Amino acid sequence: MSHLIASHQGRPSDDPIFALNKEATARRQKGEAIVNATVGALLDDDGTLAILPTAARAVREVPEVEWATYAPIAGSPDFLRAVTDDLLSAEPELRATAVAAATPGGTGALRHAIANFLEPGQALLTPSWYWGPYQTLADEADRRVETFEMFGADGGLDVGALDAALGRQLASQKRALVFLNDPCNNPTGYSMTDDEWTRVAERLAVRADEGPVTLLVDCAYFLYGARDPRAFLKHLGPLARKANIVFAWSASKSFTHYGLRVGALVACVADGAERKATEAALSYSCRGTWSNCSRGGLAAITRVLTDPEMTRACDRERDALKALLHARVEAFNRHARERGLRYPRYEGGFFVTVFHGSPREKAEAMRAQGVYVVPQAKKTGGGALRVALCSVAERDVGRLVEALA
Ligand SMILES: Cc1ncc(COP(=O)(O)O)c(C=O)c1O
Repeated sequence: MSHLIASHQGRPSDDPIFALNKEATARRQKGEAIVNATVGALLDDDGTLAILPTAARAVREVPEVEWATYAPIAGSPDFLRAVTDDLLSAEPELRATAVAAATPGGTGALRHAIANFLEPGQALLTPSWYWGPYQTLADEADRRVETFEMFGADGGLDVGALDAALGRQLASQKRALVFLNDPCNNPTGYSMTDDEWTRVAERLAVRADEGPVTLLVDCAYFLYGARDPRAFLKHLGPLARKANIVFAWSASKSFTHYGLRVGALVACVADGAERKATEAALSYSCRGTWSNCSRGGLAAITRVLTDPEMTRACDRERDALKALLHARVEAFNRHARERGLRYPRYEGGFFVTVFHGSPREKAEAMRAQGVYVVPQAKKTGGGALRVALCSVAERDVGRLVEALA
C-alpha cells in the first residue's frame, strides 16, 4: 500500500536535463574533455557562469532589512510597475490594461497562467517542440498539454496548424490557453517573423469569438534574440481587445540571476471588471502557492530596471554576452550547413534543435564520445537533439557538430 496518491507514483525525481548535466560535470572534473551542451544557462568560454556585474552589484547592495522582510503577497508595487514598463512602455494601449504579480522566475508565471486560465483537466496549446517543464507544470496542476505541428513545409511557424488546433480546443473545452515561447524558442532556437506574429494575432482574434482565448508569451529569452526584442508587441494591439494577452517575464536570463528566482506574470485584460478580478485571482494564487517572493530579489531587479545608469550598464554588459553567444551561433550555422544538419532557422538564443530520427540512440552515442545533448521527442512522433550553445565555447562548436553529424 502506498501513501502516495496513484497519479503521483512513479514520477521521476530528477529533471532529466539536470541529471545529464551532473554526469557531464563529474566526467569533466575527472579530467575528460567533455562538451556539455545541456545547461540552460549562459556560460563564459571558460565554463563559468556569465554574470552581469551590475546586476550582481544590485543584489549585493540590497539592504539586510529588505532581505529579511516579507514582500507583499503579489509583489512590491514598484517591482510590478518596473516590469510592466520594461515590457510595455512603448505600447500604451497594452500598458493601460496591464496587471501583474511577482512570481519565482518565469516558471511561477507559467504555473499561475495554467491554474487561472484553464479548468482542471483542460489542456494548454503549444507548438510540438516545447520546453519539457510545461508538461510538468500541467501535471502538477491537473491540466494537460496539447500541441500543434510547429513547422510547416516552408520551415516557418505553421500558423494554419495553430489555428486548426485552437478551433478544435475551443469546440471541445470552450476556452483556450496558448503558450508561445518567442523569440529564441526553447528548444528549437526559432524566432517568429513579423509576418508570422501578424498572422498569429489575426487568427487568435478571429477565434476569440468562439470562446475565451488567452495567449501567453513566454519571453524568458527575449533579450537574446537577433532583432528588437519588443517588436512583436506592435502586432498584439487589436488582439488585446478580444483576447487576454499575458507574459511570463523572467530575470533569470535577462539579468543572469537564475537562482534569485525573480519573475512576473503580466496580464493585459481589456475589460476593467475582469482586470480587477484577474489581479485578485493572481494574488490569491500567490498566497496559495509560495505565499510571496523574496523581497530582496524584487528590490535588486527593480533597481536595475529603474536606475537609468544601472539599466544602461546592464544593457552594455548583456550586449557583450550576446556577442559571445552570437559567435557560437555563427560557428554552429557554418559547421552545421557544411555537414548538412537539419535544424530550424537559427539567428540567436540559448538553444538550437537538430532533427533526428533516433534521438535517444544518437544522444547515447554522443555521450560515449563525451558530447552531451538532450534528446527530444514530439508527442506526435519525430525526434530531435537539443543543443545548448549557451554553455559551449566557440572553440568546441566544431567538435559538437561533428558528433551531431
Ligand atoms: C522556455 C522557458 N520558459 C521559462 C523558463 C523559466 O525560467 P525561470 O523560472 O528561471 O525564470 C525557462 C528556463 O529555463 C525556459 O527555458
